Amino acid sequence: MSFDLVLFGGTGDLAWRKLMPALFQAFRHGTLPADGRILGVARDDLSDAQYRDLIRARFDEVELAKRPSAEEFERFAQLLHFVRMDLSRPEDYARLAQVLRARGADVVVMYLATSPSLFTVACEQLAAAGLNAPNTRVVLEKPLGHDLASNRAINEAVRRVLAERQIFRIDHYLGKPSVQNLFALRFGNALFEPVWRRENIANIQITIAEDLGVEKRGAFYDSIGALRDMVQNHALQLLCALAMEPPINAHADAIRDEKLKVLRSLKAWTPQDLAQHVVRGQYGAGTVGGEAVRAYRDEPGVNPESTTETFVALRTEIANWRWAGVPFYIRTGKRLAEREAHIVVNFREAPHAIFRSPPGAVNRLVINLQPKDGLELHLLAQGQEGRRSAQTLVPVHLDLDFDKRFGSERVGAYERLLLDVIDGRLNLFVRSDEQEEAWRWVEPILEHWHNDSAGPRAYAAGTWGPSASSAMIARDGQCWSEEC
Ligand code: BG6
Repeated sequence: MSFDLVLFGGTGDLAWRKLMPALFQAFRHGTLPADGRILGVARDDLSDAQYRDLIRARFDEVELAKRPSAEEFERFAQLLHFVRMDLSRPEDYARLAQVLRARGADVVVMYLATSPSLFTVACEQLAAAGLNAPNTRVVLEKPLGHDLASNRAINEAVRRVLAERQIFRIDHYLGKPSVQNLFALRFGNALFEPVWRRENIANIQITIAEDLGVEKRGAFYDSIGALRDMVQNHALQLLCALAMEPPINAHADAIRDEKLKVLRSLKAWTPQDLAQHVVRGQYGAGTVGGEAVRAYRDEPGVNPESTTETFVALRTEIANWRWAGVPFYIRTGKRLAEREAHIVVNFREAPHAIFRSPPGAVNRLVINLQPKDGLELHLLAQGQEGRRSAQTLVPVHLDLDFDKRFGSERVGAYERLLLDVIDGRLNLFVRSDEQEEAWRWVEPILEHWHNDSAGPRAYAAGTWGPSASSAMIARDGQCWSEEC
């Protein structure tokens, strides 16, 4: 099978940091179809040779194990070409059409790694140039809009010229091996299903913590904040994977139908919930990994009086038979104590205690997503104490390390997603109705914050967020994993 992958934003940050390294890995692993071209598109005036040189130079920033040797790069570079384009000029699309038609690849992928403000015009112009044939697939990077209305507007414009099966909306969390494993865990094993419900599960916590700040994206981040950047998409996708019903098969729509039902079942926000169950924070100066770091408001590009949140913690419920009454906690933030994403499933206590157990000790399944990738099952066992007649149980862990088990065989998120686009597999991409439902659910929070003059709560960089986050979960008699 032959393919042309057109990378709009071909000299941009995402192309350098994620896409080119991922494409190279697929090339190295021999999974990228051999008969392919990667066409970088940007406004710069570059020859193919200059574009290849630029990319070669940027590979120096990639971690050593993923860097090509000179010989490997020479072979990879044969796939790379450059097309100069201004996305607002129809004649440039016509020229692109000529370049593509001259080859007539089986599959043409248009990867829009550009500002979302260009999505609509780019799709319309591609169609006007006849570049929306059924063998064309368009990849849209997040954020798709900044609220429900803008998300709908983009989706409607794109769907006027492309069929839904041609549209690949990226949520790169779905491409992470650890997240795919979540689906495998739930739907490849019969063991968990009987206990995966309200009768046995007391609560579920989802944490996506980052130790980095906003880096070079200050101006962009300041206009969106953590709720739009992480909760509306990545965190809700994780919640869906945890809470959805088993799909009837592994096809894209079967999976998406079930995720959509979860999003539709999220409990509607009441004014009281918004006041008590949602915490927003913003980092101040502090220390991360032993180094002093500046406050969010002092980051380049950020408004010195910004009220944009860099942290969110919230509690929600899913109003259906499986989950009614079970709290789901979501927490994410920048400049937290560690880079760590995990899910904690806390099971209920044994219904009748014949042993003593330490306070707060319950069965717990910890699904580590990153940087560790694995499972820990916390059980209670009889330890040394058992020698005495009054028996007190002690917590022990079953620890499964997927990095150790599968390490070198695992495929990175963007590598997997790019290959899936070329193969036309939509399972790990988000359908428009899922996105819209997620926006519908976060909008009341945005509105509440807009009208709430209190602004975000301060937290010191290098901590786990504002104390209100612990207070929120403590009101339910619970604690975040690092606290208990
Ligand atoms: C992106 C967000 O979607 O995900 C970034 O825009 C965030 O702000 C990133 O840093 C986190 O991704 P990962 O894969 O490093 O957890």
